Amino acid sequence: MEQRHAPQTSRYVIWVAAISALSGLLFGYDTGVISGAILLIRDQFGLSAFMQEIIVSAVLLGALVGAAAAGNLSDHFGRKRVVIMAAVVFAVGGVATGLAPDAVTLAVGRVLLGLAVGVASCIAPLYIAEVAPMHIRGALVFLNQLAITVGILSAYIVDYAFVNAFEGWRWMLGLSAIPALILWMGMLRMPESPRWLISRGQLTQARVILDRLRGGHNVEAELEEIQDSFANQQDVTWGELFSPRLRVVLVIGLVLALMQQMTGINTVIYYAPSILESAGFGTASLSILGTMGVGLINVLATIVSVFLVDRVGRRPLLLFGLVGMATSMGLMGLAFQAGASNPMLGWFATGSLMLYVTSFAVSLGPVFWLIVSEIYPLAVRARAMSLAVAVSWVANLAVSMTFLTLTESIGHAATFWMYGAICVVSWFFVFYRVPETKGRSLEELEAALLDKATSEEIQGLPAQA
Ligand code: BGC
Repeated sequence: MEQRHAPQTSRYVIWVAAISALSGLLFGYDTGVISGAILLIRDQFGLSAFMQEIIVSAVLLGALVGAAAAGNLSDHFGRKRVVIMAAVVFAVGGVATGLAPDAVTLAVGRVLLGLAVGVASCIAPLYIAEVAPMHIRGALVFLNQLAITVGILSAYIVDYAFVNAFEGWRWMLGLSAIPALILWMGMLRMPESPRWLISRGQLTQARVILDRLRGGHNVEAELEEIQDSFANQQDVTWGELFSPRLRVVLVIGLVLALMQQMTGINTVIYYAPSILESAGFGTASLSILGTMGVGLINVLATIVSVFLVDRVGRRPLLLFGLVGMATSMGLMGLAFQAGASNPMLGWFATGSLMLYVTSFAVSLGPVFWLIVSEIYPLAVRARAMSLAVAVSWVANLAVSMTFLTLTESIGHAATFWMYGAICVVSWFFVFYRVPETKGRSLEELEAALLDKATSEEIQGLPAQA
């Protein structure tokens, strides 16, 4: 067994993961860029608050539809082709929104971009998990989250750079077409997922691709393992996902999706400037600087997590990160409770915000995408993941649309404590329900998880090195 999985990493597989992770960059950029752009768009088109909300949330709406469709699309057309389609839509959407003559065109363009974000957010991690060798699968899938954080940071920087330019928002939105074109051209040269090919009976092609991805090591053994595993799943249908046999893993994915969003990350990512302003940073430029700091720390902590995930495992990262997230939300609440008259409040709140982002970036941020790409059997993987990711977009939309209202009605302190309480509940869910997926091939996981009828049994799986 050890022999069969001797850690051998071909540079090619890292390259494949890096190119497809560009989808993550576009995901981060397209969701992050609007926070700065909307101020200029509002002024140019004289938009009502309602129309602004439509333009801001259009991407999230599109993403939820895109994610829901992604599973069927990628089972039908293949993982690679679907990422290529998403890249084309990213490019067209970027140009269309950058050139939009009016607010309605802009909103339509943003929905289009959202469709691509939704599809790519689901299929890119799944594709990476399917091409990756087991011993670095975590790190390679984490590259996608790293790209998301780089996308968000670039969006903050581009917003800052063009804020005073003539119709600067057009640049902010339109520039996303460049990484979209690179993703498009890059993906044309990428291989199809060998696991998807096997699910379509295309063994010869799967062998050639796996051989290249693994640099010739252990190819026959892995092929055999995938084939055997898939042969045992012929009866695993979409409907079966809701059967007791698979319900437990389905629920784990769905709850992780809810947790990732309902613990409040996007209140920070989308509203950092307003939070910092309310925390006592009087000047806009200090708030913007603080926001860049949040973006940067998000990237740096994610880099650290890439190196940790295949060593320490998924569960320790989640459990450790959730403690940090709960603590920092508690501290943020305290800072606001202390009142705006306290001169140290701004710095204390910023410190808590940084601790929160760091804790998210090493845990729930990347681990959600990883676990949902690992725990489902090949026959239903894409569709199950599609469902979990669509739920995460619904939760994202719900949290971002209620945050400002919540802070106005119950205040900042209570709002942050509420997210803190959700972090605590999440910790217990992870502790009792989420399995360790490190050190097992996707096929070993299928075998282990499919047989387990209850979450206690799943949790009881011993972690393997
Ligand atoms: C989440 C996004 C979030 C981002 C922040 C992703 O994993 O899905 O909603 O904005 O992390 O880094």
